[in-house]
Amino acid sequence: MKNEQGTILHVDNVTMRFGGVVAVNGANIRLRRGRLAGIIGPNGAGKTTMFNLISGVYTPVEGEIRFKDQAITGKSPDEITHLGISRTFQNIRLFEGLNVYDNVKMAASCRSEYSFLEAILGLPKVWKLEREVASEVEYYLDLVGLSGYEKVWPENLAYGLQRKLEIARALASKPELLLLDEPAAGLNPTEVQELMEIIRHIHKELDITILLIEHHMDMVMSICEELWVMNFGAVIANGDPESVQQDPEVLKAYLGS
Ligand SMILES: Nc1ncnc2c1ncn2[C@@H]1O[C@H](COP(=O)(O)OP(=O)(O)O)[C@@H](O)[C@H]1O
Ligand SMILES: [Mg+2]
Repeated sequence: MKNEQGTILHVDNVTMRFGGVVAVNGANIRLRRGRLAGIIGPNGAGKTTMFNLISGVYTPVEGEIRFKDQAITGKSPDEITHLGISRTFQNIRLFEGLNVYDNVKMAASCRSEYSFLEAILGLPKVWKLEREVASEVEYYLDLVGLSGYEKVWPENLAYGLQRKLEIARALASKPELLLLDEPAAGLNPTEVQELMEIIRHIHKELDITILLIEHHMDMVMSICEELWVMNFGAVIANGDPESVQQDPEVLKAYLGS
């Protein structure tokens, strides 16, 4: 059943500055639960900063961010992950020295509820949880098309597969809101197409809210139900892809850049 009730994320009048640079300028976003939505805009528009603010990497200098009606402004990235927001990065970040399986397991077992003592005593409770984690890891690897790669080191994976692994890892913490920062960056057209299908499938299968930043306009236009357009830190347009595409302000922002 599609869960699309209410607003899962409020970004209210949020501003972020770095020295003299206003990276995000009084921005507002209201994201409905269950949406597959996107943020677009020229380079330097403030899109990644917006994700860094939502995921707790930065605290805004003005404004408030609410997730599931709870203020998360000023909370740490770990706290925010715990509340149900998970993300990927524009520049892939994976754990080197851990194989594909363990990269995802690490994120999945953050939720394990047993003590170190129970773990070394090897209690049945621990075995049961371990089995649950293992089947979850396999599930997420399968979802992104990485079954069979469990033992491979991430640095030996083709670039497109590293991107998929990052998504599997983000999913393993069971987010209600998944933030994807340019998931298709560096992929060839066939890989972009494939990734699009994977994102669509994840959205449907897991019934989660997804907000993605993307430069591939054809991808954004075909998979997103709603878009926000940023330029010079401000949200200059919001709506369905068709109306946003025809917005004079948006055309000006793109043609001018
Ligand atoms: N940590 C930082 N320190 C200084 N300036 C930053 C930092 N992060 C982002 N910026 C600046 O903020 C603006 C927006 O950047 P960013 O959010 O990365 O844009 P986008 O993701 O839309 O390309 C840019 O001018 C960028 O140089
Ligand atoms: Mg960016």
